[in-house]
Amino acid sequence: MPAPPLRVAVLISGRGSNLQALIAAQRSGEVAIDIVVVASNRPAAEGLHHAAAAGIATLALDPGHMPASDRARYDAELFGRIAAFTPDLIVLAGFMRVLDAAVLAPWAGRIINVHPSLLPKYPGLHTHRRALEAGDRVHGASVHFVSAELDAGPLLACTEIALKPSDTADTLAARLLPREHALLCRCVQWIADGRVQLRGNTVHFDETPLSEPLRV
Ligand code: GRF
Repeated sequence: MPAPPLRVAVLISGRGSNLQALIAAQRSGEVAIDIVVVASNRPAAEGLHHAAAAGIATLALDPGHMPASDRARYDAELFGRIAAFTPDLIVLAGFMRVLDAAVLAPWAGRIINVHPSLLPKYPGLHTHRRALEAGDRVHGASVHFVSAELDAGPLLACTEIALKPSDTADTLAARLLPREHALLCRCVQWIADGRVQLRGNTVHFDETPLSEPLRV
């Protein structure tokens, strides 16, 4: 009997194009997953509509009314609700919050993030603009396991694109986005296939420790 598909929770804060790529990949059978819930810290996140239209459960928990000092309490509440859907993997896909170490601990090795830069370069915001301003020749996107530090957990894979002299932050973002989607889908498939493990801070792929991220 084939193994049941990997149960995936996706966390978003906005547009949800990475989510849509995962939904499409699930539908086409390219990626053997079952997206069990899409959660957002922003009830107005556009991606929640895509999830609902695809018949996926949605969860919106707005931290707006909570003081910043209650960040850990918010995270615990959010992750408690997500855990009720018993996901095997949590994917942060444009989820714009840094998470508390205490909620992450039980998910070590089972939570990944996609970020639009070649990490460790340019954690945080405005990655395309920063790559252009630095005069980089190559830019890209990365998938990494999540730690409590912003965009800093162990790297699984990246995808690269060459910068053109004519590039602006917008053209770069537009060119990178489909590559980012493909990268995320590939990484999730590898995890669904049981090919990826996080041991300590080292990512293993096909039982081999990675000294650098895989290239997609
Ligand atoms: C993506 O570039 C993601 O890497 C970054 O925010 C963007 C979200 O895009 N963290 P979307 O919501 O998936 O369309």
